[in-house]
Amino acid sequence: MKTRTQVSNVLVIGTGGAGMRAAIAAHEAGADVIMIGKRLMRDPHTVLAAGGINASLATVDAEDTWQQHFVDTVKDGYMLNDPEMVELMVKDAPRAIEELIEYGVDFARTETGAVDQRYFGAHTYRRTCYAGDFTGREIVYALADKVEALQLPIVEHNYVTRLLVDEGRCFGALAFDIHTGERTVYLADAVILAAGGHTRLWRRSSSRRDENTGDGMSLALDAGVAIADMELVQFHPTGMVAPESIAGTLVTEAVRGEGGHLLNADGERYMANYDAERMELSTRDRVALANYTEIVEGRGGPNGGVFLDISHREKDYIIEKLPRMHRQFLEHQMLDISKTPMEVAPTAHYSMGGVVVDPQTCATTVAGLYAAGEVTSGLHGANRLGGNSLAEIVVFGRYAGEAAADFSAEIPYQLRSPAKIRAAHAELDALIKSGDEMARPLQRAVRDVMWQYCGVIRSGERLMQGLEELQAIKSRAADLDVSPSSEGFHDLALALDLKAAIASAEATIRSALARTESRGAHQRTDFPDTDPELVVNFRIVLDAAGNQMISSHDVKETAPELMHLIDEEELSVAGRLLE
Ligand code: FUM
Repeated sequence: MKTRTQVSNVLVIGTGGAGMRAAIAAHEAGADVIMIGKRLMRDPHTVLAAGGINASLATVDAEDTWQQHFVDTVKDGYMLNDPEMVELMVKDAPRAIEELIEYGVDFARTETGAVDQRYFGAHTYRRTCYAGDFTGREIVYALADKVEALQLPIVEHNYVTRLLVDEGRCFGALAFDIHTGERTVYLADAVILAAGGHTRLWRRSSSRRDENTGDGMSLALDAGVAIADMELVQFHPTGMVAPESIAGTLVTEAVRGEGGHLLNADGERYMANYDAERMELSTRDRVALANYTEIVEGRGGPNGGVFLDISHREKDYIIEKLPRMHRQFLEHQMLDISKTPMEVAPTAHYSMGGVVVDPQTCATTVAGLYAAGEVTSGLHGANRLGGNSLAEIVVFGRYAGEAAADFSAEIPYQLRSPAKIRAAHAELDALIKSGDEMARPLQRAVRDVMWQYCGVIRSGERLMQGLEELQAIKSRAADLDVSPSSEGFHDLALALDLKAAIASAEATIRSALARTESRGAHQRTDFPDTDPELVVNFRIVLDAAGNQMISSHDVKETAPELMHLIDEEELSVAGRLLE
């Protein structure tokens, strides 16, 4: 098999919003950059981000401040957030919006020409900037235009199999072309991992096939990096329920931000029973749990969902503010949302856990390796404030790019280890073999396990059962058939996705077992209360034999001047319902 070598100062793995922003920053800081991704440059997962991006611009609600954005974020995260990371983001988000406008993002405007801001759940003020309900796509296209204008090389359809690490330093990655199988050894002074999360591991997911498969987290673990908070997985309250082939697809929170009502099969606007004050704009974890409860208690619709109704709004308004939703339901269900309610149910949406990074530089614990975006942990705590993920990718993508470029400028020489490169090739060679199992059915089995045993509601018993079933899948995966052919090397990519999925799923279940409480998105029937002793993050690393080792770390203290703004009583879970 043909192998190429590519050398750069900075290698960026992942071509979504975080990766592109990092590449631009590294280039502008003087580094020579290469970007590689599994998907097409203009079709990363970020294009699915719908409703908006947060920044306390105060264009609509003049009272808003970065301090209030800070308070809303850590309260929504039930105090498990890294407060330094939150402070950096909320202070920097307004600048990032200006920058996006400069890159060409066409945000919706008010009548006076200011950037418009809409409500999203659990925000004290309107601070979510948006472009219809396709904000992520708008940002991706603007970043991609900038990347092209700067002529930064992007290699598409490249699957990274291993981060190359020697002497505690990352010096590149091995990747192969999914169509031709051609391998490339990417040698770099610094590597930025921006490969997304792991929410495609659940049966119902707002991610598409073959994205967010946990490969970023698994690459990091194999490189000797710690990952944290893997149990903290956000279930978005509203995913499509039909047709089954696309069940889980996001129905944006912007529908509720624009006044949508949630109704059960009896026509009751049930959020009054769960959070009478904020109703549909309560925190995401509460709305997801409310929807789940209505469904399991038998008040759901014919497809096992509840109803989201925006039909009281004018059709023109809906088409202006929610064009993607209008088209999505017409296309897949022949349903006009300006006339008929949508049937929706919780869907796995966002990984709040991931690689442990330094907030200011996005450096991991391995020298030369940086990470940004959904693959990281720290910012969101136990429940992410809607609209913070797009702010995260542009703010921390930039920090990672700048820090990686600085690292490259400071090191005296580029490391390379032929032995480590040979080992990475051998590992890949060993996967290509005939066997009795195929990756796709086993991927589906992982998704069923995660949905059934580690979903919206968990218990110690069910998590243990999930772990056992996952171990059984892992044993079967040892006998995988991987046969590249004239059809391409997709089998190999699927085999690696499966390995990554199993590792990320195991880390998630182990962390979920360790968190013996209910907090935010992590709800346990056997531990229904929040435990004040568990203001900790659970980290996982691999031991020398490749076993996952878990440890608990206190969350950093919040600066007193910000802490006094937070009313801790409001963090109580009183009124939460468990099945
Ligand atoms: O519902 C949404 O539009 C999702 C936004 C987000 O996850 O931030």
